[in-house]
Amino acid sequence: MPVSRSQSSLRRGRASAVLSALDIPTTSAELDGVYDGAWKGSGDILESICPTTGEVLARVRSASPSELHAAIEKAREAYKDFRLLPAPRRGELVRQIREALAAKRDELGALVSLEMGKIRTEGVGEVQEFIDIADYAVGLSRMMNGRVVASERPGHSILEVPNPLGVIAVLSAFNFPVAVYGWNLCISMAAGNATIWKPSPSTPLCAIAVTKIVSGVLERNGISGAVAGLVTGGKDVGEAVVESADVDMVSFTGSEAVGRKVGKSVQSRFGKTLLELGGNNAAIIMPDADLSLAVPAVFFGSVGTAGQRCTSTRRLYLHKSIASEFLSRLQSLHASLKPGDPLEAGTLLGPMHNAQALSIYDAAIAQLKSSDAEVLTGGGRFTDAPYDKGYFVRPAIALPKTLDPRDEIWSQERFAPVLYTAVFDELEQAIEWNNAVPQGLSSSLWTRDLRNVGKWIGPAGSDAGIVNVNVGTSGAEIGAAFGGNKSTGWGRESGGDAWKQYVRWSACTINFSDEAPLAQGVSFVS
Ligand code: UN1
Repeated sequence: MPVSRSQSSLRRGRASAVLSALDIPTTSAELDGVYDGAWKGSGDILESICPTTGEVLARVRSASPSELHAAIEKAREAYKDFRLLPAPRRGELVRQIREALAAKRDELGALVSLEMGKIRTEGVGEVQEFIDIADYAVGLSRMMNGRVVASERPGHSILEVPNPLGVIAVLSAFNFPVAVYGWNLCISMAAGNATIWKPSPSTPLCAIAVTKIVSGVLERNGISGAVAGLVTGGKDVGEAVVESADVDMVSFTGSEAVGRKVGKSVQSRFGKTLLELGGNNAAIIMPDADLSLAVPAVFFGSVGTAGQRCTSTRRLYLHKSIASEFLSRLQSLHASLKPGDPLEAGTLLGPMHNAQALSIYDAAIAQLKSSDAEVLTGGGRFTDAPYDKGYFVRPAIALPKTLDPRDEIWSQERFAPVLYTAVFDELEQAIEWNNAVPQGLSSSLWTRDLRNVGKWIGPAGSDAGIVNVNVGTSGAEIGAAFGGNKSTGWGRESGGDAWKQYVRWSACTINFSDEAPLAQGVSFVS
């Protein structure tokens, strides 16, 4: 159906209200997509496309190769001064960033919805996650402690000293265009590093808006903006960042396939990596589970964010005694699901992010059909106006024919709202299935029986980085370290001890005595 003039101006009005609230020009032809203390951009043009309406929200000039190299060089220079600033003063900058973000929380949350497609409460929640980690990093800036180790030699002390690491590159994905950068920036900044951000090429506006807020704080404090630089761009820009010997650590969020390349490339120059790759997360429902809690949690986990969280629930293992009741309750929640504009209150199902995301969904549905899986609900796009302009799909629940967890249908992550389901007899069987896939990000057990909990979190339990009980697979808080094991990449971001990766550690042995004894009693005199 052709879009009428009034409809298209309505759409422009919808977008420009969100953009102008964040001082993003809505009239100029192209926006600068590079910040290294000054805004610029003369590389390839990136288009930001609204997943809901298909309209072009903005055109962004990405980093040219020379701009990219200059930005990395400036980050290195900025680091040299920044590392000397006492950590609590760096924390004070993070506190001001936190305040500036909080002042724009709803506006920025709306931009996340507009550009990424997640519903507004999740968009705002993502900004809240940035605010939360900023709070955490402010406290941490007074607690990034080393240790004093007892020396075996008289008059000696051994210190384990953390110092700033250097330049940290953050390569973030489209699905969390604000929060994942926030986790990295806040910890990296408190730790005394310069951070350079290469966001997903399809969410440049979120990156520009966040960088404006962060750089405003730095500039007001007389700190070089290159402490928090931005280089938008596609694959070439990402590769150049990853390969740069001036980047000390690459924090990468994305697919296992790309992560494997990033890991190898950074390892070949002995740089550090922090990888957040695929999730293929399972929920296990025991006979004693409270279904009034478990069913909505699986619904949110598999359908929320249109199935595009790393932590989305992709596999559902149901005990045979509750399987049919669980599925009928889950199907009725699906039946109530209506697609809608993610900016509008009440919408639960927004669009998928872009054409590529849609093709992953299409391939998953095609595979279900070709493998004779039983599709209980969903499977297909919304083709009626106005949803035909956006990337709207029907979330699916399916029972694959095979139960073998090594079969591709179970073992591959599909970044789409498709829930693969199987029925089990014994918890041990379900734990084995949970662990049999290559990925190990998040997992969730629903039970009231303490013995099951003990099995689940113990040595023969879930091998994932996130092991929940009566809590779904997605929606982690920032306080604990976030990340996954195995092919998820072993990276840890956000809270917990994750900060320890953002510093270089030195063991310093100091001799206060008038002798110089060797360790282990070695004597080197003839
Ligand atoms: C991601 O999916 O990339 O636990 C991050 C969650 C969010 C973060 C997810 N706090 O779902």
